[in-house]
Amino acid sequence: MRSASCWPWPDFVEREANLSQRNTLALRAHAALYARVLSVEQLATLAEFYAPGDCRFFILGGGSNLVLTGDFDGLVLHIALSGRALVGEDDEAWYVRAGAGENWHDFVQWTLAQGWPGLENLSLIPGTVGAAPIQNIGAYGLEAGERFHALTAFDLQTGETVRFDRAACRFGYRDSVFKQEGWHLDGRFVIIDVTFRLPKRWQPLTGYADIARELAEHDPHGSARPTARQIADAVIAVRQRKLPDPARIPNTGSFFHNPVVEADTARRLLSAYPALPHYPQPDGRMKFAAGWLIEQAGWKGRDLGAVGMFEKQALVLVNRGGATGADVIALMQAVQRDVREKFGVELMPEPVFL
Ligand code: EPU
Repeated sequence: MRSASCWPWPDFVEREANLSQRNTLALRAHAALYARVLSVEQLATLAEFYAPGDCRFFILGGGSNLVLTGDFDGLVLHIALSGRALVGEDDEAWYVRAGAGENWHDFVQWTLAQGWPGLENLSLIPGTVGAAPIQNIGAYGLEAGERFHALTAFDLQTGETVRFDRAACRFGYRDSVFKQEGWHLDGRFVIIDVTFRLPKRWQPLTGYADIARELAEHDPHGSARPTARQIADAVIAVRQRKLPDPARIPNTGSFFHNPVVEADTARRLLSAYPALPHYPQPDGRMKFAAGWLIEQAGWKGRDLGAVGMFEKQALVLVNRGGATGADVIALMQAVQRDVREKFGVELMPEPVFL
């Protein structure tokens, strides 16, 4: 594989690009090559320039789920494809499409303003529309995959455009085919746009305790059915209270997945720790709150080097200033070790490491 230079390169490719402002953990790193992709034509040009395997690609959206461990000796494609539109409607649903580079939160607020509810529980999640299906973003009782209809991706290996429907995406908890091993989709498919199916028979999703509490404060008698806008506002208020704003305190949201364990491990843990927040899964396994485990292991609000676990939500790793990828890895491993020793549970990181 030709690496560093991926030579030759089209004229819209920059050399030695600084990625510090392009990742919400604010880690310092450079990319040997960098391109801001504003059109599918640019992708087609790249596919013509590079034969499969010529060049290492990394596809960057909002950089909100990314740990830069050092400089990247390949080509970073920053996907900035824009546009949003209603592309279809039937008795059941509105079909709404957005370019992969659109800001996720702005897109959600726009759908609500148009009168198409359905994504309100996912308000204020950082990142782009194109990244949403990759890790099947979720919050407060909803995952993006539940509202997903289809996406269009550009295959850098063949130069063709491919459609993925919901089944093809193989969504799971913070997971999709784009992350699963053995599918070899990494760095190959660039998501161009995503279409969501927003149901006309909308039901408010207010089962999550934090959201129910927030709504009750504004409607103490619970007399009115909340609107999608009110749910969005409740979600925004809860997130602003608990989660650090990456613009002020660099972070990547939840740093670990909530661990899903087998039923016998779950029984053992729950008899030893009855207060451990847990969520039964359809397959009989049990999901546990990693934030609780991390807090009990003594890491809430505690720092190691230039990074720490956030004081209001122990699941969020924050950069206190000037951190490196090595600092992040050291803290990750310390937290994993202490949770493993205390609870016998393995925590897996949520962000992508580059
Ligand atoms: N908890 C603690 N201590 C903590 C943090 C949490 O005891 O420091 C307890 C809470 O009291 C609660 C439980 O753990 O009983 C769950 O906490 P929370 O409601 O804050 O949610 P979470 O499980 O920590 C997940 C997602 C978030 C999402 C929220 C709300 C994952 C990895 N994280 O967090 O997603 O916003 O639920 O739905 O699934 C993200 O993925 O980046 C993210 C922020």
